[in-house]
Amino acid sequence: MSRKSYKIAVIPGDGIGPEVVAEGLKVLHAVARKHNFSLDLAEFDFGGKRYLRTGELLPESAVAGLKAFNAIFLGGIGHPDVKPGILERGVLLKLRFALDLYINLRPVKLYENVRTPLRDKSPEDIDYVVIRENTGGLYTGVGEFQRKGSPDEVAVQSMIYSRPQVERCVRYAFELMRRRHSAQPWRGLSEEQLRKGYRAKLTLCGKTNVLTYVFDLWERVFYEVAKEYPDVLTDYCHVDAICIYMVESPGRFDGIVTENMFGDIITDLAAATQGGMGIAPSGNINPAGVSMFEPVHGTAPAFTGQGVVNPVATILTAMMMLQHLGEDKAAQDIEAAVKKVIKGMKSMLVGQMGYSTSEAGDLVVKNL
Ligand code: IPM
Ligand code: MN
Repeated sequence: MSRKSYKIAVIPGDGIGPEVVAEGLKVLHAVARKHNFSLDLAEFDFGGKRYLRTGELLPESAVAGLKAFNAIFLGGIGHPDVKPGILERGVLLKLRFALDLYINLRPVKLYENVRTPLRDKSPEDIDYVVIRENTGGLYTGVGEFQRKGSPDEVAVQSMIYSRPQVERCVRYAFELMRRRHSAQPWRGLSEEQLRKGYRAKLTLCGKTNVLTYVFDLWERVFYEVAKEYPDVLTDYCHVDAICIYMVESPGRFDGIVTENMFGDIITDLAAATQGGMGIAPSGNINPAGVSMFEPVHGTAPAFTGQGVVNPVATILTAMMMLQHLGEDKAAQDIEAAVKKVIKGMKSMLVGQMGYSTSEAGDLVVKNL
């Protein structure tokens, strides 16, 4: 029987991107050998360096080319010599829109031995997933200036959502919650909730008291779709309140679904509670197309080339990519190995792991 092969587009990007991507690939190759599949890699140089050299951000042909891959593995995009916004909009956000990566999936999990700034919180308290809508809302870039430059100038930026956009995101979230607890119901459910047949919980994060159009739509769609998922307990939280709970009682969350900008903000807070940027992975997902996986951290230009950044976020990102490709066993192996390596790390912070970037990657491979 021929073994499975996955075509992966690799975009190492800028700054520390290539360093962490190298560790991610090291682990991917090792786990592929063990589980008898192979990776067919193609590297792309999109990012700040290419832009400065050629003036090119993301050619149209590149988008078409990327659609032929099974997944995209991205390090980080951003360059200190490029004005903020150009690379973000021209490469990262452009990929999200062009490939219709409408889900940004961000697991929030505190691992053993990782220091959280939340006093008295332990791994049992922090284990949920944020499903952030990834192509709509304020990120559509719709807006205008009125009387620009005049003393009574007005700027408008519109939060736009269509029903299909909200519905596909909410539906993805419910499906994910069901999958997440296919083996075991969520531990946060009460006896009574279990008796009623609930296995998972999904919280809608919005702002229905102020954003009376957009979240009216989100709320209606959320409860309509919920009827099809009687096994998923539903809850609603305003975005400001959710920030309190994420800090004071994160154990109340199993899954949070929210719009794009709120999701951007709350997932940085969430990443801080799980030990910071050295550990937070993410996936930009199009369930019917090619998806892109990237660590939440940026390019950290100040640390480039020093071998001091933590590759765990990227290695866990590789794990998410394998989960997405259906290589569940391989993904579980990566997580188990990462857990062991983390136990031996002095800290998750840059320069304080007790290992270099490549030593940390080697250790994960050794523990596979
Ligand atoms: C993220 C980032 C991006 C975003 C930036 C770089 C445009 O902060 O992936 O969360 O706002 O989505
Ligand atoms: Mn962000």
